[in-house]
Amino acid sequence: MCAVAGCAKRRRAGGQLLTRLLSRARQSHQSAWCNPDQVSLSIKDHSRRHVLDGKRILLIVGGGIAAYKSLELIRLLAREGIGARVILTRAGAEFVTPLSLGSLSGDKVYQELFSLTDEAEMGHIELSRSADLVVVCPATADLMAKAANGLANDLASTALLATDKPVLMVPTMNVRMWEHAATKRNVAQLRADGVTVMEPDVGPMACGEFGAGRLPEPERIAKEVRRMLAGPKGHGPLAGFRAIITAGPTREPLDPVRFISNHSSGKQGYAIADALARLGADVRLVTGPTQLPIPDGVTALRVETAVEMQDAVKASLPADIFIGVAAVADWRPATRAQGKLKLKGGAEDKVALQLVENPDILKSIGAKRKDRPRLVIGFAAETSDVERHARGKLARKGCDWIVANDVSGDVMGGADNEVLLVTKAGTERWPRMGKAEVAMKLAERIAATFDDSRTNAAE
Ligand code: CTP
Repeated sequence: MCAVAGCAKRRRAGGQLLTRLLSRARQSHQSAWCNPDQVSLSIKDHSRRHVLDGKRILLIVGGGIAAYKSLELIRLLAREGIGARVILTRAGAEFVTPLSLGSLSGDKVYQELFSLTDEAEMGHIELSRSADLVVVCPATADLMAKAANGLANDLASTALLATDKPVLMVPTMNVRMWEHAATKRNVAQLRADGVTVMEPDVGPMACGEFGAGRLPEPERIAKEVRRMLAGPKGHGPLAGFRAIITAGPTREPLDPVRFISNHSSGKQGYAIADALARLGADVRLVTGPTQLPIPDGVTALRVETAVEMQDAVKASLPADIFIGVAAVADWRPATRAQGKLKLKGGAEDKVALQLVENPDILKSIGAKRKDRPRLVIGFAAETSDVERHARGKLARKGCDWIVANDVSGDVMGGADNEVLLVTKAGTERWPRMGKAEVAMKLAERIAATFDDSRTNAAE
């Protein structure tokens, strides 16, 4: 725990946060999240079903100034159909109320080890095993010390000792406490016991000091929860399938310091690589220059130009799935100057730039060839008449599916996407959603397609 003063103020702040979270959830038509079963339904209603839908975590909320972030964590997980049952420690209750946690999780919040009503409903042993994953957030120095030494003198520590499920600890504490030899020993012991302990963030702390010990942002915690719930690599509906994804822009150099490129951020392509890997596929990401980290479990090949991208894709064949998400530059300068091009001192008022066409990577992969992947998917970035242009590209490039979007708004570089899935059978309009959600929906659709073809082949 970092500080204990000003609890009433913090509780008021927690109340305001809860009100904001509730209204945000209602705005996004997810007011049914209070009941985990209804969460799944509302997500299904919006065609947003996820493979982790129906998974449950046991969330142990310890005492710390950042305990309020556990509310946001519950909300983020609920969006994907992942439910939370909550144990609130005595110290945790100084920072967030059982009412806030119970309203967001849609379930009773458990606080006492020796509660006759709790034991009648669900014993602490069953509580510790009823979830797919136990998450301790925030994990204080005290909670970690107890767990590392097998103490069981309250509900949280007893559940941690009794559970047979994987455990994720998300530490937060003052930097000196985090760096103390005793904490280091406890963290090492927990890791040796198979517990996943996240690294805390570095930055200014509520107590005025600076360093490692801040609770990671809820998005990062949610990502770790999803990773752990998805199970070990090589498992999942796409295990055994190989996928090649192109992503990001390409850069076509004019001279050693200048190039032609575009605004692609690579977010959608990276999210698709991540989603396919999470479903168990062996993923090769051929990426142009981006600022993004390579997703866990994905093999990346970094390239600059369209020609390099095509070479890298061909070298990665054979594959079962090819998805061209890259915004490949259509042209490149006909020549690349060896030295930096110089101004002619105003002697020319117009400078002509000669361009030649780049290879069409998607078209060459979609063409009938011996090593054509079984499923070839292209993206179509359009600014008008989206469906007509997409259908034209589907035929012209020999694709099986085209994911089409209107890029006249803030799609390039933005967090959301609104796409059409155009196949030979018809067109589906997907609602606007985050790029990670588009990616997971597409990955699940691919998994279902391969599953159907397996079943048909077996019949
Ligand atoms: N693509 C490709 N190689 C290229 C150009 C595009 O592999 N040289 C792929 C993209 O990765 C995407 C699809 O083709 O999957 C469509 O890209 P898009 O930029 O929308 O279309 P273009 O083919 O460039 O056609 P236009 O610019 O006329 O819309």
